[in-house]
Parts: sequence; structure tokens; C-alpha cells
Amino acid sequence: MCGISGIAGFKNIAVPLLDSIRHLEYRGYDACGIAILGLHGIEVRKNIGSVDEVNERERLSEPDGKLGIAHTRWATHGGVTKENTHPHLSCKGDFALVHNGIISNYRELKKELIKEGHKFYSETDTEVIVHLVEKYFAPSKDTEKAFIKAIKRLEGTYAVAMITIYEKDKIFCAKKESPLVIGLGGDTNYIGSDFNAFIDYTKNAVVLDDDEYAVVSKDRYFIKNTTNGETVRKKITEIHWDSDMAKKGGYPHYMLKEIYEQPQCIINASQVDRQHIKKISDMIMESKKTYLIGVGTTYYVSLMGEYQFSSVAGIFTPAISSDEFKNLAHIDKDTLVIAISQSGETYDTLNALKYAKNKGAKTAAIVNVMGSSIARLVDLTILQGSGPEICVISTKAALSQMIILLMIALEIAVRNKRLASKNKIEIERHISNLPEIIQKVLNEKSGFIHTIAQKYSHINNWLYLGRGKYYPIALESSLKMKEVAYVHAEGMPAGFLKHGTIALIDENLYSIIFMPPKSDEDLYRLSSGSAEEIKARKGFIIGFHFGDKKESEKLFNEEIALPTVPDVIAPFLELVVAQLFAYFTAVALKRNIDKPRSLAKSVTVA
Ligand code: AGP
Ligand code: GLU
Repeated sequence: MCGISGIAGFKNIAVPLLDSIRHLEYRGYDACGIAILGLHGIEVRKNIGSVDEVNERERLSEPDGKLGIAHTRWATHGGVTKENTHPHLSCKGDFALVHNGIISNYRELKKELIKEGHKFYSETDTEVIVHLVEKYFAPSKDTEKAFIKAIKRLEGTYAVAMITIYEKDKIFCAKKESPLVIGLGGDTNYIGSDFNAFIDYTKNAVVLDDDEYAVVSKDRYFIKNTTNGETVRKKITEIHWDSDMAKKGGYPHYMLKEIYEQPQCIINASQVDRQHIKKISDMIMESKKTYLIGVGTTYYVSLMGEYQFSSVAGIFTPAISSDEFKNLAHIDKDTLVIAISQSGETYDTLNALKYAKNKGAKTAAIVNVMGSSIARLVDLTILQGSGPEICVISTKAALSQMIILLMIALEIAVRNKRLASKNKIEIERHISNLPEIIQKVLNEKSGFIHTIAQKYSHINNWLYLGRGKYYPIALESSLKMKEVAYVHAEGMPAGFLKHGTIALIDENLYSIIFMPPKSDEDLYRLSSGSAEEIKARKGFIIGFHFGDKKESEKLFNEEIALPTVPDVIAPFLELVVAQLFAYFTAVALKRNIDKPRSLAKSVTVA
């Protein structure tokens, strides 16, 4: 999730352009660069490191010019190197381009362009775009036409900004599923991944929608539909934030922002390289046993993987908390260890992987940070593409990891003949509907969750109960509550309750029960049974319910109603709600949300 920006002005723009990527740095900080159109063509300055480090080395504010684009990178395709840093240039250097997103058909396009004589300088997916524009410009000499032709060839997600020597006052930009906004400053216009890019200069903006492109000059701009070329008129949005708020995209905390980024993260997760999904499935099929490892949240993600692999793919892949790995695992050369880690730097997980490797095991990992120690150590890395997760509490990274594990389970299920290909496609369709459903739940339910979180924020002890794959969801949800609100929440299988913990239940015991949809008949019946046991002892219950009819209100003191969805995606919706519940409880208790006490984003000690 990179940050992109651009300025079309009437005087030198290098200094504000540099400022714009400083403000976007939270979106990616592997590398950064600028391209400025000067008297002698386009000058690109770029390198790896933070904006300040790169500026010190490359002096980004030096080049003269009134038109430019800039980028801060969160690498998805190609290592963190100077060559892979944006902006990317066409062969002749007459077009420069920056991109945020993933071009999923870049391999085919690259092959085609190389065949036609284009020379590539980077390993990125992005570079194909600028060569495509160059290709289509050659016969027509019309930049706008060439730009649109190139954009139409792209599959995947993108926000793109481009400048060229042939149009001295124009930034060409286009968007699909990655954000892009235009800032209107009167005699200077701006573009950015979000308002941060230009919040210090103007509060008037126009937000681009998917499948739209814009041509932006210093005192003019137009927006058109990419598919039919029709002009689109948009209303001007007045930004009411100060620049400090804006860095969080208008959200009061990164945690909330990252919860709201989950629809996009699921899209990114479902677009991870198919070859990698196939490769890791081969590795699992070829191994005699597979362990899933992680700690804290990623242990719970692993546990969710264990349930998915068992129920969907029909294989048993035990999840082990990385810190206990050596005490439990039996390793030989036929063993595969799959690590889950947002940071890719967690000591316990890294250490378990090294131990397994030394004993001859094969290793793989799902990680969010490219170039991290775990990514470098393992035989196969799947980059989840969730973008920087700044809040110490993991939300969007964990949900993305669960989706990727489900995709692997589906691939294996087909190979194991437990699932027909057409059923796999059906489930994948449900996954592709998930971002929209989560968005709807976020839009429609957050008010209610806020209210009940405030109402019950004085409760000091919670039981979080779930059966089947709702059990890891209950565990992960309880961890959110502990971490961010400092409120005790104990996650446990709902069926386990009657074997001891039930002795705690009276009118002072508060619980949340992670119910499945009714379509999951057995699990629904058993989970309702657990709720009845609590109710019989006068315990207080918040329960989930799928569907419009309030059938379960007799059972629950508070009911969280969710839309009817297929079983396969239902647990993810409940997780998102539980993240919000923990967040709003922490807000009510005035906790230090993004940096809770005693925690660190990556724990690099034993
Ligand atoms: C997440 O909310 C926690 N801060 C913590 O449990 C974390 O998930 C764990 O330390 C593992 O980190 P990793 O994913 O970076 O390896
Ligand atoms: N895919 C591009 C790269 O790796 C852009 C990354 C992004 O926007 O996250 O350079």
C-alpha cells in the first residue's frame, strides 16, 4: 500500500512534493522517489529507506520544475532495491509513472512487451504500465489515448499517476480499487493517495471512483469514465481535518483505520500470487506432517488454519504456539513448518523456524513485511499485501492471513477430491463478496457496537465462547479485548464450559457467544445449548445472530444481528465486530489505543 502524490503548479514544486510524501509515509516506508519535469526532460531521484534518509542521500528538493509526481513504497513485487523504487521510466525516459496496487496480469504483459523490444529495469509489476503507455503512444502520439489504452489492459488494483515530456502541464491519473484524490488549490492542483498529500495547501478535494481517470493541470482538471470515455462531474469535498488527524486518514486511531481497511486487505489477500498458493499446497501434499506456527494473534490465526485445513481440506495440520514449538514438535526432513507473522521479525517464531530448518524440515511463511527475517529465512514466502499495520494491535493483518489459509485449504481440498472445482469457485465467490459485506457491517453496525461497548465498559471479566472455527475467533477476539482495553476476557470452546468454568456463572458473569449461522445446523444447535446453560444460571450473554428475524433474543441479553451469509465467511464477520467491540471499550476506558502499555509491534526477544 504505497503512497502516491503529484503537483501541477506555477513555480518550483520540489519542496511541497517532498512534504507530500512525508505525509504519506505511514502508507509505506521501504523506499521513495520523485520525478520532476524540468527544462531538460524528466529527472528521477529515488532510493531505499525513509523519506528523510533518501532526501539526505538524493536531495529530493533540488530539481527545478513545476510538474512532478512522487511515491513512498510498500513493496509487493520485487525486493526493496533502488531499481524497484518508483517512479519508473519508459525506455526512452519520456514517461515517468508511480503506482499503488498490484497488477495481477503483469507477467503476461511483461512477456509481450519484452518480445516487442521494451527493456525493463525493475522486478516490479508496476513497470509494465509505463512501457504499455510508451507502446501505445508510438503510433498515435496522443498521450491521453495511449494512457487509457494502457490502463484498459491492466488487471488487478491500481492508483496510477504519470507525467510525460509531451504534455508539460499535465498529470495523468487513473484508479481502480486503490485510492486517489485530487486537491484543488486554485493556481496549483494536487493528486494524492489521500488528503494527507496536500492537506497543508488546500482543503478542497475531489475523490476519484473506480474506473475513472483524470488529467490534472495547475488550474484545470477533468475526470472521465475509463470504460466509455464520458466526462464525469463530481462534487467538491471540503476537508474538515487538521493535518495531524489527516495522517490517520481522518480516523482518531490507527486501530480504527486499520479495522476499516479490512475490505481492501481481503481483496489484496485474495490476489496473492496463485503460483504461491499452488506451491505451498504442493509442499503440504508432499510432506508427511505440517505444523502451523505463530504467537499471540498469529497463533490464533494458525489455529483457525488448523480448523480450515481439517474441515475443508481433510488434513490435520496442528497449530503450535511458536514459543512451545521445541517442546512439542517432532521434526524430520518430511516435515513442513508454516509460520504466520505480520512483522516477520518475531523472535519466538523465527527461533522455531531455525530449529525446524536445522533438523531438516521444509519451511514456508505468510508474512506482511517483505524482506523481513522470516521472509528471508523460509523456503517459500507468501506476502499477504495488507500494507503497513501501525497500531500495535493486529487486526487487518490477522484477517488477511486467515483468508490466505482458507484459499490454501480450498486448493488442497480440490486435490484431495473433497471438493469439486465448481464448488471451490462457488466458495471463492463468497470470499470475493466478503469485502462488500464487511463494509456494510462496518457502516451499519459500528454505531450499535459503540453503544454496547460503552454500556458494558465497566465489566472486568468476560467469557468469549465459540465452537468449531468460532473457537479461534473467540480466542483472537478475547486477545483484542485484553490487549487494547486491559480488560480480562477468557476465550474457550463453548463445549468446554460445562467441564469446570460453569461454576463461575451467576448474574455477575458476562459472556459473548460466537454463534454460527443457522445453516450450520449441528454447530448452531450445540452453541445454542451452551447459551442455554449460561442463561439457566442467570449469566449475561451477548450473542451473534445471522438474519433479519430476531429469533434468538429470548436467549441473549444483547443481540448483534448480522446479515445472512454462507457458513464459510460467517466467522470473519464476527471477528470484525469483536475488534470494534474491543476498540470502543478501550475508547470508553481512555486507553492508549495504538500503543497499549507493555506491548510492542514486533517482539524480538525470547
Ligand atoms: C497482535 O495484536 C499482538 N500484538 C501480538 O499477539 C502479535 O500478533 C504477535 O506478537 C505476533 O507478531 P507477528 O505477527 O509480527 O509475528
Ligand atoms: N506493486 C507495486 C510495487 O511493488 C506497488 C506496491 C503497492 O502499492 O503496495 O512496487
